[in-house]
Amino acid sequence: MPYTVPKLTDYSPAALASAADECIAACQSESAEVRSDGDLKIFRDRWMARKNGVLTQINDLWLKGAPKEAKREAGMRVNELKTRITELVEGTQVSADAGSLGPACVDISLPGIRRPVGAEHPVVKTANEIVAVFQKLGYSVAEGPVVETDYYNFEALNFPPNHPARDTQDTLFIAGQQSKPQRERLLLRTHTSPVQIRTMEKMRPPIRIVIPGTVHRNDPPDASHSPMFHQIEGLAVDTNITFGDLKGTLDHAMKALFGSSVKTHFRPSFFPFTEPSAELYVTCFICGGSGKREGNSPCRPCKQTGWIEVLGCGMVDPNVFEFVKDNGYDPKKVSGFAFGMGVDRLALLKYGVDDLQYFFQGDVRFLQQFG
Ligand code: PHE
Repeated sequence: MPYTVPKLTDYSPAALASAADECIAACQSESAEVRSDGDLKIFRDRWMARKNGVLTQINDLWLKGAPKEAKREAGMRVNELKTRITELVEGTQVSADAGSLGPACVDISLPGIRRPVGAEHPVVKTANEIVAVFQKLGYSVAEGPVVETDYYNFEALNFPPNHPARDTQDTLFIAGQQSKPQRERLLLRTHTSPVQIRTMEKMRPPIRIVIPGTVHRNDPPDASHSPMFHQIEGLAVDTNITFGDLKGTLDHAMKALFGSSVKTHFRPSFFPFTEPSAELYVTCFICGGSGKREGNSPCRPCKQTGWIEVLGCGMVDPNVFEFVKDNGYDPKKVSGFAFGMGVDRLALLKYGVDDLQYFFQGDVRFLQQFG
């Protein structure tokens, strides 16, 4: 006998529960009988059809017929039941009955199902390679929040109050923060350097860490800019760390990343949180440092200079240590170096991609080439 929705006279919780159980059992046994796509359609319609499906009938018969005092309880029960039946119906698949099971139904001449295998995104791949180089040197990985406070992104990194990098031109601030003191205001971190401070607050020296992460700046997207990009920060603090250690470490890392024939070159620069500061250049791995391509044509990636800027670095400014002094970072006792590089730009150069936007558009035809 197929299930028909009974009229309810008894609206006690026990009676409602048993009516619901009976309904579920009926649905389960009908679900098990579905043998073909045709059966499945009939089964779905029978239970779910808006017009006169079993669930609609239950709604009409049980809910609308309920006495006032029982309406709440009945409403809850019917909702539970609807969820349960919907799950059952949605989860029902065409099943073969025992008789037709077995080798006879496997048709090995049918085409297979292609299950696409994912691959690392070129930016993530490049980041992982860079991190691995430093892990071999004994560095560990640290991470920090993308939504950061003004304190960590700027103040504790020794940015003077009116430094241009704080300017709304570069920084994306979270709206509605005006009533908070400046240092507590939230923004999207503009670099991974705030994690230097966060890590030093948690870990006593000596430390050696690399920090991969996403950063944001208010730059309109074009072939070489994106409001969101990736950096890898590095920080080493110990007693007697010198600029020689910085040079040796980064020279080794660049050779490990780009090949043992690359040369490195440090040029003086400025960052509020390092002193002295430098920019690191490597010989252009496209033209090998000559500035020229085959046939004497100009090399574009290095703008014919033969050198490519890869990162900013320097010795940790004593003013930065002052902010974490109480955790063992007395600037009279410890010293350290830090560096920060843009992963996306390195990935562009490495793979010879000519537009940064390809990395973020999610076009499978582009991404498949790295699979
Ligand atoms: N945070 C700097 C930037 O985003 C890079 C940097 C990191 C420079 C660490 C020096 C030391 O430009």
